[in-house]
Amino acid sequence: MSASAPAAFVRLDGRTTSLIVDCRGDAPAVLHWGPKLAAGLDPMDLVVLATHEAAPCSPTAPAPLALTPLLGHGFPGASGLQAHRNGQDWATFTRIDRIDEVAPGVVEIVSTDAHNAIQLTHRLELQPDQDVLVASTRLTNLGSETLVVDACAAPTLPLPPEASHLIHLDGRWSGEFQMRRTPIGQGAMIRENRRGRSSHDAFPGLIAECAPASEATGEAYGFHLGWSGNHRIHAKTLSDARAFVQMGELFMPGELRLAPGATYASPKLYAGYSDAGLSGLSRGYHDWMRARPEHARLRAKPRPVHYNTWEAVYFDHDQDKLAKLVDAAAAIGAERFVLDDGWFKGRRDDTAGLGDWYVDEGIYPQGLKPLIDRVLAAGMEFGLWVEPEMVNPESDLFRAHPEWVLGCAPAPQLSFRNQLVLDFGRPEVRDHLYARLDALLTEHPIAYLKWDMNRDISHPGGADGTAGAHAHVQGLYEVLDRLRAAHPAVEIESCASGGGRVDFAVLERTDRIWTSDSNDALDRLSIQKGASLFVPAELMGAHVGPTDCHITGRRVSMATRVSTALFGHFGIEANLLALTDDERAELAEGVALHKDLRDLIHTGDLHRLDRPANENAFGIVAKDGAQAVFAYTLVREQDAYFAGRLRLAGLDAQARYKVKLVWPKALTTRSSLVDVLREGVTLDGRTLMAVGLQLPRMHPQAAFILRLDRLN
Ligand code: GLA
Repeated sequence: MSASAPAAFVRLDGRTTSLIVDCRGDAPAVLHWGPKLAAGLDPMDLVVLATHEAAPCSPTAPAPLALTPLLGHGFPGASGLQAHRNGQDWATFTRIDRIDEVAPGVVEIVSTDAHNAIQLTHRLELQPDQDVLVASTRLTNLGSETLVVDACAAPTLPLPPEASHLIHLDGRWSGEFQMRRTPIGQGAMIRENRRGRSSHDAFPGLIAECAPASEATGEAYGFHLGWSGNHRIHAKTLSDARAFVQMGELFMPGELRLAPGATYASPKLYAGYSDAGLSGLSRGYHDWMRARPEHARLRAKPRPVHYNTWEAVYFDHDQDKLAKLVDAAAAIGAERFVLDDGWFKGRRDDTAGLGDWYVDEGIYPQGLKPLIDRVLAAGMEFGLWVEPEMVNPESDLFRAHPEWVLGCAPAPQLSFRNQLVLDFGRPEVRDHLYARLDALLTEHPIAYLKWDMNRDISHPGGADGTAGAHAHVQGLYEVLDRLRAAHPAVEIESCASGGGRVDFAVLERTDRIWTSDSNDALDRLSIQKGASLFVPAELMGAHVGPTDCHITGRRVSMATRVSTALFGHFGIEANLLALTDDERAELAEGVALHKDLRDLIHTGDLHRLDRPANENAFGIVAKDGAQAVFAYTLVREQDAYFAGRLRLAGLDAQARYKVKLVWPKALTTRSSLVDVLREGVTLDGRTLMAVGLQLPRMHPQAAFILRLDRLN
């Protein structure tokens, strides 16, 4: 295909996937997205194979399921673009102008509606060594009057007729990323998020499964929208059996108004496909994330083990206690000490202080320097918690600038953790917060910021009375980008009361997500499992919490708390001074084990294992198959006396492996197989995968970890 020459078809090939877009008609429409097709295939063969007679009581030729299905095409489902000029120019009808190969693996299809003065550009990227299609839509107002845009989705992709189920990621605070399956039927499934952040309850992702599928087998299609604000997920099956997924930003009324000549770019859609089950789909996403240029900084050094102060001290920043925690954290092997909420001016509890990003002189009379010096002297990096988008009415900032908050006066603000949202759509607000953060990072040797965001944006009215949720998110991105440019070595975590702001757009500018506020090791298993559908382990913050979980009250052994947190970006968030010597020693062993395994965990291939609901098991296998680690947890007691075999996955079938139980030190069981595994046993990959190990009878809530090393 040559630049600017209209072509009949656009074809992009990934590692195991192909995308073919039919550009023969007025609108570009996906002819194939899924398994890789033969290199020499004539796309007309696909057209012939798809031919069917006219449906009864229907248009002679159905309106195209275009990348942007349009009202002007007569499309009977949700239009990918809904826009008008004062009630006119709404029936958009575009024709393809040109197709540009803008870079290897990147194609832009430009279409124009001359009558309604609208241009749509679809950008599609699929690299030959990846299986994630990155697709976005650009809309340009070619007219001389403002275009009001009610919706402009990322490219719409068809689902194959075999797609039988959708997997949603539901949730709530402290219970994010819960997988829920629903059968696909005629009609629409719509998921809308109006919380102003990606949300705990409607992660912007969806998976379509072609049943029967499992973690290891069957076809799965993944969809993720990289956007950190309001969004809309739409999956629909029409009466002619065509099904599609459409994702885009959700706008408040009148929120997006394009001036003449202005352009809006939709968030990017990340679409994946795998014929190796759900884990295969996840590996495609993980490989894609790891190949991003932004990931290079994370690969350059092992991800440091965190110690976070939140659940140890909350707002009680007693200097002696913090100093003791620094020493205790270093003693168990932590590599980064993160001072959480409570360090800044007036912050004694959650009713005051947000906005005043100056060290509280009452609590820290000599500033943060003595604490940071102690952290550095102990061989750790220093990290700091901030929540820059928020302000407490009880703060100097709010008193000086009450007009800086988002709101819809005279409608009252919703009370939410005593805080309001600063309008990051306003340049003066962004400049002020940027300057405060820049000063903190310049004045102190800070290696890491935990960037929090602890309330919904319930009343996103901007300064001129128009809706400002979109502008807020763009403003957030701008401040993060500026900080990144000015302080490239500083790592940033995206936290929003746990996993309330997790998406690939925020991860373009941050290095870690705080997966959930719940440190309950059992709840975390399903939370991390759901998150792992899209996000690799090294980006998922996972901490060993206190003996009794502060959120659920559940007591889980140190051994199991370690074995759950081990498979993320590992950290500790418990009062080390309240642990017994034995618990601290066990924790230190867990830290050492993580350091030993983290290179594998943070680069290897994830294989979640299909297990009954009362169990959780998965493995991570090195890309070359030379090493692997598998974790098994019995969440609830078995119905029968014995669990089934643990069949491993992803190993080199031809190779022999030394299999060794490396965690925990003590496992309450009488199985002699466990004794054998503790010693280490040599088995071949095929047997481990085809036959597996008999699981021992274990106490509920117990876990164990196997390490495998391939023998030459
Ligand atoms: C949020 C975060 C927690 C902690 C608190 C501090 O809830 O998710 O980890 O930082 O804020 O206020």
